[in-house]
Amino acid sequence: MSATAVNLYLVGFMGTGKSTVGRLLARQLDMRFLDSDHEIEVAQGKAVAKIFAEDGEPKFRELERGFIASGHPAHGCIVACGGGLVVPPGMLELLRSRGVIICLHAPIETILQRTMHTTHRPLLEVADRETRLRELYAQREDIYRRTGTMVLTDKRPMREIAAHVLRVYRLEAAHFKS
Ligand code: S3P
Repeated sequence: MSATAVNLYLVGFMGTGKSTVGRLLARQLDMRFLDSDHEIEVAQGKAVAKIFAEDGEPKFRELERGFIASGHPAHGCIVACGGGLVVPPGMLELLRSRGVIICLHAPIETILQRTMHTTHRPLLEVADRETRLRELYAQREDIYRRTGTMVLTDKRPMREIAAHVLRVYRLEAAHFKS
């Protein structure tokens, strides 16, 4: 199945577990795991934080669009998408044309706990991190809800989350038309 499998795009807010779930499933399904942030960093030769600082957020969003449009294989991949990737107009439609989208979800309290002390996310480098997170979460909630099936990642063992994502992926991949 691996090389020809329909791509799976994991979307959702920062700290919902996209990379952890994606890595686990990629191993199980013998698919290739890609993290959009990491792929962009490798291609640009600098960290996401540096891209934001030197080139600005709009440039980073352009790089995300380019990565989804033509920067990765059309089949056989599980892609953990950066939290804001699906937000700009047209990105959801682009993702839909490329594969199955599953949105990982967690309540804001869990997101706050998971991201409060991280240092690699430029959007959170502000004096009042909690307010920033709550604002972004509120701004994006509707967009995430429209992306596709939502899987809750809060207070559940990782193997159960992965099994849930796998069930949804199999059902939706069977009906996917490229
Ligand atoms: C962002 C989320 C990050 C990264 C960048 C911007 C966002 O990815 O792409 O810092 O806008 O939500 P993660 O969701 O993997 O943290």
